[in-house]
Amino acid sequence: MKTRFSFLLLLSILIASCGGNSGSDTTLDKASSPKEVAPPPRRQCSRGRKIFRTYCITCHGIDGKLGLNGAKDLSISILTTEERTLQVTKGKGLMTPFEGILNADQIQQVVEYTESMIAK
Ligand code: HEC
Repeated sequence: MKTRFSFLLLLSILIASCGGNSGSDTTLDKASSPKEVAPPPRRQCSRGRKIFRTYCITCHGIDGKLGLNGAKDLSISILTTEERTLQVTKGKGLMTPFEGILNADQIQQVVEYTESMIAK
C-alpha cells in the first residue's frame, strides 16, 4: 500500500517536473493504465537533470559549458557513454569521483542527461 502510493506520488512529481506538460489528467490516466506504466525516457530526463543540477553545475555550469576548475565543455564532448560513465564514476583530474556519492543508476541517468546537452 505505502510503496504503491509513494510510487504514484513520485511518478506524478517526475511527470510534472519534466517538460512542463500541462493536462495532467490525461497523462495520469495513461500512466495508470496497465499497458503504459512509467515511460522510462521521461523519468531519466528529469532525474538526470536534477542530479546534474545538484552535483555537477559547480564546475560544468547549468548548460555544461562553464568549465570551472578545468572542467570540459560538455556540450561539445565527444566521449562515448562508457567513457562518460567511467569518468563520472572514477573522476579525472580535478573532477570528483562520484562512486561514493551516486549509485550506478544515478550515474547512468546523469550521464544520459549530459548526452542530451550535446549541441546538435
Ligand atoms: C570539481 C569540479 C567538477 C565537478 C563537480 C564535476 N566535474 Fe565533470 N569534469 C571536471 C573536470 C576538471 C573535467 C576534465 C577532466 C580532464 O579531462 O582532465 C571534467 C570532465 C567531465 C566529462 C568529460 C568531458 C570530456 O569530453 O572530456 C564529463 C562527461 C563530466 N565531467 C561529467 C560530469 C558530471 C555528470 C558531473 C556531476 C555528476 C560532473 N562532471 C561534476 C570537473 C568537475
